[in-house]
Amino acid sequence: MGLLDLSRKLIMKASAIRAVQRIDELGAISETDDGLLRQFLSQANLRAAEKILEWMSLLGMHCEHQADGTIRGILSGSNPTAKPLLLGSHIDTVAHAGKYDGALGVIAALAALEDLLESGCTLPFPVHVLGFSDEEGVRFQATYLGSRAVVAGLDESLLSCRDAAGDALRDVLERDGWHDGAAHFRYAPGDVLGYVELHIEQGRVLEEAKLPIGVVSGIAGQSRISITLKGQADHAGTTPMPLRRDAMVGAAACVLAAESLAHAHSPLVATVGQISLSPNVSNSVPESVKFSLDFRHPDDEQRVELLDLLSHQFHQIAQQRDLEIHWQVVQESGAVACDDFLIEKISRAAKKVTGRCLTLASGAGHDGVMMQQIGPIGMIFVRCLKGLSHHPDEYCAPEDIAAGIDVLVEFLNSFHEA
Ligand code: GLV
Ligand code: MN
Ligand code: MN
Repeated sequence: MGLLDLSRKLIMKASAIRAVQRIDELGAISETDDGLLRQFLSQANLRAAEKILEWMSLLGMHCEHQADGTIRGILSGSNPTAKPLLLGSHIDTVAHAGKYDGALGVIAALAALEDLLESGCTLPFPVHVLGFSDEEGVRFQATYLGSRAVVAGLDESLLSCRDAAGDALRDVLERDGWHDGAAHFRYAPGDVLGYVELHIEQGRVLEEAKLPIGVVSGIAGQSRISITLKGQADHAGTTPMPLRRDAMVGAAACVLAAESLAHAHSPLVATVGQISLSPNVSNSVPESVKFSLDFRHPDDEQRVELLDLLSHQFHQIAQQRDLEIHWQVVQESGAVACDDFLIEKISRAAKKVTGRCLTLASGAGHDGVMMQQIGPIGMIFVRCLKGLSHHPDEYCAPEDIAAGIDVLVEFLNSFHEA
């Protein structure tokens, strides 16, 4: 541990201590007792939103919430009519999640504003802190619903997406949306100075470089596909092997094909993370299997080309095994570059706080992918233990959180001088 890291560990500011406590507090708000889960528009997601609104009010922010659960706190600054700078992250989680992914970005933004207010600084523009109700896309297999709603709205095809219970997003919004006093905020291109998000790195680059903070150059593009293979259910004891049309074995071959393709074409990453089969009984040959494919590459052209190749391989596997295949592209988002000016500003702020700063790309998706439609985006990465994320053991050291908050403060201070 370097001297700067050590001093941050020994002398933690009240705002950083509070941020660490808030991470725990939010991490305890879950749909399930069996690990952290806060899906889009679940009761836990709404409870987390309410908790953050309380924290925003404590800072004297003007608070609003949308029917889709996304929240916003506004600190008006000395010129309330100036274009705002947006900060924030998402408040939903995957299943068996860590408590830092998303939550840290919102909590750190509030901590940075707390520090600024305490130092007597008034920014010459408003700051909007956003807590997006969905980034992970767990419930509807469509990501960025929170940020998408505030920049573009949710279109018909999204509103028709169904969750695992078979409920359409349109109906879930109607039934469970936050209607009581809900606001309808929307940003158009050019409305904002920019969007800056602090997030745990979810990789090992910073840990290996022994650095608490990095600045993000861009976010990899991703495709999400839903695949269904259909064969025939049959008796597991009596159906001879050559006569079977086993959808599960076909799916297994597809999973291996995806893995081989990704190994052969680094930095491509391909993941089958969700699977269901029917009839799902131990003594029947599986008739149909539905599985997800998450497919990412920093280069859009290569992603599209390699996905075509994999689709061809899956169709061949289906044909060889006499299975029907249904390949549905659920979502595609292109790679997004962070803004050079914001990269420079964040980098300078990080160097001032930690001595050094590394520029790195993000393989994970972030709300900036949507927010870049309305203005420049920048991201601050904070080191996390072993790069582990989407896992209950996800961990970000308090002194690294403190460094992240300091970088945000430094960035905000220097941003308005530009
Ligand atoms: C979000 O965490 C994603 O990259 O899937
Ligand atoms: Mn995540
Ligand atoms: Mn995240």
